[in-house]
Amino acid sequence: MTGNFTFHNPTKLYFGEEAIENLSKELENYGNKVMLVYGGGSIKRNGIYEAVKKELEKAGKTVVELGGVMPNPTIDKVREGMRMAKEEAVDFILAVGGGSTIDYCKAVAGSTYCEADPWEYYFNEWGEMTCRWIPVGCVLTMAGTGSEMNSGSVISNHSENRKKFYYFRNPDFAILNPVYTYTVPQYQTVAGIYDIMSHILEQYLSGNDDNTSDYISEGLMRSLIVSSRKVLVNPEDYEARSNIMWTATWALNGLIECGKPTDWMVHMLGQAVAAYTDATHGHTLSAVSGAYYRLLISRSEDAVKKFCLLAQNVWDVRPEGKSAKEVALEGLERMEEWMRSLGMAMNITDCGADESMLEGIADACPINESGYVVLSRADVIDVLRKSL
Ligand code: NZQ
Ligand code: ZN
Repeated sequence: MTGNFTFHNPTKLYFGEEAIENLSKELENYGNKVMLVYGGGSIKRNGIYEAVKKELEKAGKTVVELGGVMPNPTIDKVREGMRMAKEEAVDFILAVGGGSTIDYCKAVAGSTYCEADPWEYYFNEWGEMTCRWIPVGCVLTMAGTGSEMNSGSVISNHSENRKKFYYFRNPDFAILNPVYTYTVPQYQTVAGIYDIMSHILEQYLSGNDDNTSDYISEGLMRSLIVSSRKVLVNPEDYEARSNIMWTATWALNGLIECGKPTDWMVHMLGQAVAAYTDATHGHTLSAVSGAYYRLLISRSEDAVKKFCLLAQNVWDVRPEGKSAKEVALEGLERMEEWMRSLGMAMNITDCGADESMLEGIADACPINESGYVVLSRADVIDVLRKSL
């Protein structure tokens, strides 16, 4: 392990079937006025809203509610949240939902007292957050993004066809009950599962040293694959749901990037597709992965070596009598078989993209330089075209 790093993760995490019982106690650490934020209403149908309200009452909080946070939350919706947080002078923001709701709450928490326009200042210019921050806690209802234990916030701006991220602050605490994820529809469940896989791969597929982080990543991937198969058969398999939830958290809370350059180009491509189509995050990632990974294998010896390890240690490919490239490609094919078995989008056409959008999508796609290959704009177009 040759890279230098700092690891610091300040989120306190409560996990398990009784985890919600810690909410009222946690809330004692914050002021009286709580802004309760949620998405399109699933929490009102599956009982999570009631459970949260009970805890808020137990804690004696004054509650203002903001619902309707959409998947791929928009900057306009963030502005609505900022207005409410300021007018109501809220002391604390409680996010109840998936990555979209949690990301959204971080953006509101860091923008309400920001004097500049948050889209320009944070998402375009990556200005430092110096204004007052409203503390955030979360009750997670879907596994995938890792937003419950990281500082990331991904926000869309439809008028500019852009989807961008900024690192605000971690939630102070997160409540994770795997049972809450039983009601996540299959299309979203598998999107979350592939998002987790992609987060791990974005970090694993970089660098060429022997690194403990990669051994941890291989274990996380193996666990994810086993549990993904179980959850397709039985969405109420507690063991599988809990493994997926915990894997999601560790896939993007800073641990497995320790000592790694990391890549993140699949996410840059997927986000750019979503900027044009508003498609579900995990499916935009699966749609571009195959073409991008084949490009890496065709251009970089380091990539071939790493895909070879992935093939053997995660996808159980036997290397005997095969070239390194053959092993690498066989591993990728096994992964794609698994993706198809989950029902992932395997091309961007299924995400709503078409040929006429390719130049625009390429404009919306930042190019990272820390992976095995630094893409040119022509490469981006090529990957997108092969993904149609
Ligand atoms: O809106 P509601 O009614 O809650 O329904 C949601 C939504 O329709 C539903 N859902 C969630 N929990 C449910 C449920 N339905 C039934 N029962 C439950 N228990 O699922 C749908 C998707 O929810 P969403 O929060 O959008 O999904 P996800 O957690 O995948 O979040 C996606 C967002 O996170 C960003 C993505 O770009 C996207 O905007 N990401 C955030 C990251 C981070 N913070 O680090 C990293 C990721 O790479 C990602 O970019
Ligand atoms: Zn992701």
